[in-house]
Amino acid sequence: MGGLEEEKHARYIVSVEKKKDDFEALVIEHLRMNGAYWGLTTLDLLNKIGAIDVDAVVSWVMECQDKDCGGFAGNLGHDPHLLYTISAVQVLALLDRLDLLDIEKVSDYVAGLQNEDGSFSGDMWGEIDTRFSYCAICCLSLLGRLSKINVEKAVNYIVSCKNLDGGFGTIPGGESHAGQIFCCVGALAITGSLHHVDRDLLGWWLCERQCKDGGLNGRPEKLADVCYSWWVLSSLIMIDRVHWIDKEKLTRFILNCQDKDNGGISDRPDNAVDVFHTYFGVAGLSLMEYPGLKTIDPAYALPVDVVNRIFFRK
Ligand code: FPP
Ligand code: ZN
Repeated sequence: MGGLEEEKHARYIVSVEKKKDDFEALVIEHLRMNGAYWGLTTLDLLNKIGAIDVDAVVSWVMECQDKDCGGFAGNLGHDPHLLYTISAVQVLALLDRLDLLDIEKVSDYVAGLQNEDGSFSGDMWGEIDTRFSYCAICCLSLLGRLSKINVEKAVNYIVSCKNLDGGFGTIPGGESHAGQIFCCVGALAITGSLHHVDRDLLGWWLCERQCKDGGLNGRPEKLADVCYSWWVLSSLIMIDRVHWIDKEKLTRFILNCQDKDNGGISDRPDNAVDVFHTYFGVAGLSLMEYPGLKTIDPAYALPVDVVNRIFFRK
């Protein structure tokens, strides 16, 4: 079997970015900000960020900001949400344009979504989910404004979503799910609160996610899916248990999900590719130190050099 098709994946990402009117672009229109983050981070990990028009991307991102509340929408004319605000901040961080932001305005929007019990709503309509705790904490940390929220309450809320199996769910009592575990462990890592995690218990649950085909699933009894290479591996790295996974088998599973002709990576072998799974496939390989890729930070989900630039410049 061959290796990673770096050139083809970069060309695939750039071509999706250009095809704004076709069906795939249409169904993801409302989450284009997430798509921009997935696509651009993939290109950067592949050392191919030079293939895009930085000024065009940056001005589109800035136009997606709500002038009143300061949050970002998934696309022009849509409503702001934490899920898009974190992607906008990550894209600007990646392109080294955080200086364009009114930091106080964006961070006030994020901090304003914290509830009395420490949890976060995703937007003004109020749905609560530990995904939003992660988005808020990651975003505020990148902006240097964690002091705008009650970090202790935010951490206690996340801890209240911990289950007897060591994992975390969307809300207290919610079933453990690897995506949610990434969010909770990531938020605890960023706030220096990993002592709340039972590393052996959670590490055991996470390494049991490796299936016979080498891929990782998100919950017991589910099929392996390339995106869980990210959610599971990043969590295992943060709790220092990544050596409990068979990296060689997982690498082979991800490489088997490539479209070797037209580029892109799918959720499992022989399925249709998309930008989401292309990103998480490449990010998973980066976590396993695949040759030629930039290293990605498991908590901030940005290349390590980008994270260092932000924290060492201050
Ligand atoms: C699984 O989604 C993934 C999650 C629940 C975690 C989502 C995390 C975020 C949105 C935070 C931002 C993330 C990054 C990387 C910066 P799914 O809907 O595919 O789950 P399913 O497999 O159960 O359908
Ligand atoms: Zn998936």
